Amino acid sequence: MSILEQLEQLKAEAEREIKEASQQSKIDELWTKYFGRKGGELTSILRGVKTLSAEERPAVGKAANEVKVFIEELFAVQKEKIYQDGLAAKLSAEQIDVTLPGKWKAPGRIHLLNITMRRIKEVFKGLGYSVVSGPEIETDYYNFEALNIPSNHPSREMWDSFFLREGLLMRSHTSPSQVHVMEKQEPPVRVICPGKCYRRDAVDATHFWEFHQVEGLLVDKNVTFSDLKGTLELFAKGMFGHRRRTRFNPSYFPFTEPSAEVMVDCFVCDGKGCRVCKNSGWIEIMGSGMVHPRVLKGVGYDPEKYTGFAFGMGVERIAMLTYGVDDIRLLYEDDMRFLSQF
Ligand code: DAH
Repeated sequence: MSILEQLEQLKAEAEREIKEASQQSKIDELWTKYFGRKGGELTSILRGVKTLSAEERPAVGKAANEVKVFIEELFAVQKEKIYQDGLAAKLSAEQIDVTLPGKWKAPGRIHLLNITMRRIKEVFKGLGYSVVSGPEIETDYYNFEALNIPSNHPSREMWDSFFLREGLLMRSHTSPSQVHVMEKQEPPVRVICPGKCYRRDAVDATHFWEFHQVEGLLVDKNVTFSDLKGTLELFAKGMFGHRRRTRFNPSYFPFTEPSAEVMVDCFVCDGKGCRVCKNSGWIEIMGSGMVHPRVLKGVGYDPEKYTGFAFGMGVERIAMLTYGVDDIRLLYEDDMRFLSQF
């Protein structure tokens, strides 16, 4: 076979083989077959051109070069085709159907009680109070005795508190935290103690056996009842709006003297009278008073030198009043239809 014939045959074979190649590895293999330095079929022919006679050389050389360019072109085209095919396959495999409906992921929310708790804390932090917590299991001493609650007081009855083994109970209010704080530090004291409390109450729309309170305590030199009034008035405005007014009604707590119930004018009807304030125009939001000298003495404070005020509020009650919830049990059931409203 003449060289020109060999070239024709090579050209036809290369065209068929390269066009059939569907993978880059096959292309590499064919490249070596035709253009490999050692034994490449076209390389050998091109090398052979040198040995030809001067008459033959130009025509064969030209033809060989044309075949070389032709095959190189085939390789380039096929390589691009393989790349494009691969890309198209990848894109169609990863295709996203943007018309499909999305999957709903319910975002988490803060529970109504925690929203309320956070707001109460924020207001008192703004007034310079620090937040301290006390234990939920208490001794008789902290829950009652140190708070001047005598042993014949009704809250000591089995019916009111959850008693554990001898001398221990689930705290029935957050007031014992006051005693812990005062035992640990000297005045001035300015703290709030939020936390859970437990009582053996029959469950109804406004009572539940677990609930939250926020206790407050301030002790220093020359603290008077007007400080109590000013502070709790600021709290009421911070919590329920700057237009709110407060009123202090005489009350009784064993650990404060004098004691007062704190009322705020109804934020639902603006004091006109409605269902929430039971037509009185006022809503009770907490108990308060000047810390009883016996309580101060009990923790080693000198009542001649220091005075203080304390207060305690029910978080569930405040949450219910603020958001118009009429059953405390809703706060303890995980009903998303209710919870997702807040
Ligand atoms: N501990 C009281 C209760 O559970 C609330 C309370 C009233 C706390 C007056 C106080 C206070 O610190 O001064 O009903």
